[in-house]
Amino acid sequence: MTIHIGAQQGDIAETVLMPGDPYRAKWAAETFLDNPRLVNEVRGMLGFTGTWNGHPVTIQGSGMGMPSLSIYANELIREYGAKTLIRIGSCGGMQPHVGIRDVILAMTASTLSTPSRGIFKELNFAPCADWSLLKAAAEAADAKGTKTHVGGIYSSDVFYDERPDLNEQMTRHGILGVEMEAAELYNLAARHSVRALAVLTVSDHLQTGEALPAEDRERSFGDMVDIALTAAFA
Ligand code: HPA
Repeated sequence: MTIHIGAQQGDIAETVLMPGDPYRAKWAAETFLDNPRLVNEVRGMLGFTGTWNGHPVTIQGSGMGMPSLSIYANELIREYGAKTLIRIGSCGGMQPHVGIRDVILAMTASTLSTPSRGIFKELNFAPCADWSLLKAAAEAADAKGTKTHVGGIYSSDVFYDERPDLNEQMTRHGILGVEMEAAELYNLAARHSVRALAVLTVSDHLQTGEALPAEDRERSFGDMVDIALTAAFA
């Protein structure tokens, strides 16, 4: 047990999928894993462990934002020995060619600040995905025929942004989408020599104001889980 995760040692798999929403962790575990069992419910941040094609997998909610994800990812890596961490989540599209329901594989994650900022100070560290996972996810997405974009994303600290100029600059520099967790996951993976990737479904679009209708969410998010699992064991 750790401060925020009630699982026993051995209850957490080396491969962990991390949706922001704990109920999405439950849905993904019940939909994709064999014999899923609840391993964490501290603070309602549900985590499940089961198997996928015989491979042990944990699906653990991260909560929203980098400070929350940082707590869970730190404990998963440092206390439970997680080796492959894949964020599965939603993001806002930031380019005209990026459509609702498309999948974004985050090659890099730009950010204004992260919980790791205290380490980097004036240095602009470049958080990036693990190449083997990124390559395998791109191949898995291709094989499924999912419309997918690979490139940079922006991990923001706020959903309700009072600085639209930052989004404008990100768009101008080719950033594909905005979410709130990946940069810290990539920082931690680099620090602890483990693999990380963010596989994101575009749920809304900053320029068009379009949003994924509630009834479409499950299927679109399912594609993302499938891509993440295939990539983890490629
Ligand atoms: N902003 C930040 N995070 C998000 C968004 C957004 O528009 N959509 C999904 N996650």
